[in-house]
Amino acid sequence: MAEKMFNQTTILHAVHTKWAGKTVHFAEDVDSTNEWAKRLGKEGEVHGALAVAEFQSAGKGRLGRRWTAPVGSSVMMSILLRPDFEPCIAPMLTIVMGLSVAQAAERMGIKGCIKWPNDVVVSRKKICGILTEMSVEEGKINYVVIGAGINVNLDSIPEELSDKATSLYLETGKLYNRNEVLAHVLECFEENYQRFMKTKDLTLLLEDYNRMLANYGQPVRVLDSMGTYEGIAYGINGKGELLVEKADGTKICVGAGEVSVRGLYSYV
Ligand code: BTN
Repeated sequence: MAEKMFNQTTILHAVHTKWAGKTVHFAEDVDSTNEWAKRLGKEGEVHGALAVAEFQSAGKGRLGRRWTAPVGSSVMMSILLRPDFEPCIAPMLTIVMGLSVAQAAERMGIKGCIKWPNDVVVSRKKICGILTEMSVEEGKINYVVIGAGINVNLDSIPEELSDKATSLYLETGKLYNRNEVLAHVLECFEENYQRFMKTKDLTLLLEDYNRMLANYGQPVRVLDSMGTYEGIAYGINGKGELLVEKADGTKICVGAGEVSVRGLYSYV
């Protein structure tokens, strides 16, 4: 059913989890839910607390880019986490969230997949962006914030992004209830996070992730500081690195952050 309202009460009503999103902060208009969640983190807010906004005036994307979305169109949320592990583990949580969004789409009957490392794509176009930030003091994590922007009911895509981005509505012709979308994401995330915490890596999520990996068995072009090479991707390992086999049989583990990976024939 399409949504009538999207606010703190309707979100709390929709979410059936143990800890993820049991505390919800909702704003009609905020600078950025990531910034808000970081402020909440500094003030001592609990693990699993969620910041959600209908509109962001200074939404942040990766690489210092802006992230904008019209009112009513998207789920823009950031979850605050207080994990007890080394800071170098935290970037893998971006992959955990990417997997959760892809699984949430699947639960809603939408065939989504993942472009490594964490872009969730439908019909070869991105429907979700994820930005993870953390605060570290004296080598220990204070808090981690994972922000996700999901294009739900967006009815048009700016010209310059039209070959790269889409929304659930544009792909299916259906309007979605954002409370339900958010609830599915949090339910999947909570389950995946619990599994992640058992090994503090992606080992127990590998099968689910690789099953949804759009790049699996596909030719990819890797661009890193050493140059460009091509190969066939065959999944990720427990650290989230993309495994690529070059034509000469050499196998390479590609770390996220160091490189850019593109399909040879499209964005995916
Ligand atoms: C990307 O560039 O792909 C990442 C985009 C992340 C956008 C989301 S929207 C909710 C949260 N708040 C922000 O300011 N950014 C993230």
